[in-house]
Amino acid sequence: MEKQPPMQDQLTQIEKRALQDINEARDLKSLQEAEVKHLGRKSALTALMSKLKDLSPDEKKKIGPLSNQIKTSITNKFEEKRAQLETIEIEAKLKTEFFDITIPGSAREIGRVHPLAQLQHEVENIFHGMGFTVADGPEIESEYYNFEGLNIPADHPARDMQDTFFVDAKHEAKHGRLVLRTQTSPVQIRTMEKYGAPLRIIVPGRVFRNEATDASHETTFHQVEGLLIDTHISLANLKGIMTEFLTELFKKEVSVRFRPGYFPFVEPGVELDFSCLICTGKGCSVCKRTGWVEFMGAGMVHPNVLKAGGIDSQKYRGWAFGFGLERLAMMRYGIDDIRLFHSGDLRFIKQF
Ligand code: PHE
Repeated sequence: MEKQPPMQDQLTQIEKRALQDINEARDLKSLQEAEVKHLGRKSALTALMSKLKDLSPDEKKKIGPLSNQIKTSITNKFEEKRAQLETIEIEAKLKTEFFDITIPGSAREIGRVHPLAQLQHEVENIFHGMGFTVADGPEIESEYYNFEGLNIPADHPARDMQDTFFVDAKHEAKHGRLVLRTQTSPVQIRTMEKYGAPLRIIVPGRVFRNEATDASHETTFHQVEGLLIDTHISLANLKGIMTEFLTELFKKEVSVRFRPGYFPFVEPGVELDFSCLICTGKGCSVCKRTGWVEFMGAGMVHPNVLKAGGIDSQKYRGWAFGFGLERLAMMRYGIDDIRLFHSGDLRFIKQF
């Protein structure tokens, strides 16, 4: 018979010694030590396996699989023995200590994704599928990005549309005071500055307004901003994108319509409604008998805003929109009080 190559011998030896130590281990601690000795970084097996790469292809074919097989076999033996020793140690404990196995264990509660976060992810997914990138911006924002850059000067009456929290802190004079952003629109300019045109983003995010709260008003809520900038863009694109988005979201044929609306950072500005899903347009209490549900503000990006973002308004144009995530969730799930979202009430949260 052909003489065994020395590596094969070594492997047999390694296995033999490991099995012997496993057999002799009387407690988990000594088993653990044996495991480090035989499978650890400094073990003979690890050393041998690191030399495999220097073997001839023929030997590699033989020794490679064999060493893996031995490693698996040793590992399994360690597992088996560990399970045995654990049972023995538990039984010993049960004899010497009082342990009432009838007391119910303390169940660990598994958390869940907040309904708003769930909806936000769905929204992101749908827009992602249409080529939009998800962008982000700061919640504490400068007056410049929140207002001036968006074509709302300090003395403009449109400032009254959004009652603002000011932050009492040091700031750069150039960008005005600091505010809690009242809208996600400042991210329009930040993204234009950073990436230029063309652009196709949505911006989900938290916004703040100094509101007296009631069933449909909160000081803290979420918006999803959309911005598309390119060379040949019109409101027709927006209509198509929003019809597609809502149809996909509600899994139902949805149509949209525009009404004139005013926002200083768009021209023309529109309000977008979608056909009522409850009565499919016939008129019910949800749509106040109109067949339409008010959904969001939108419009063609104002040239002043493109300019503020450093984009050539002769070459590029685009549209923007902004809708409230809470309102969308309320319509979708039939929730009648916006304050429930941030109430921290588990009876509410657990329904989603
Ligand atoms: N930012 C506006 C608001 O909060 C919504 C909007 C966004 C309108 C983009 C037009 C374009 O009311």
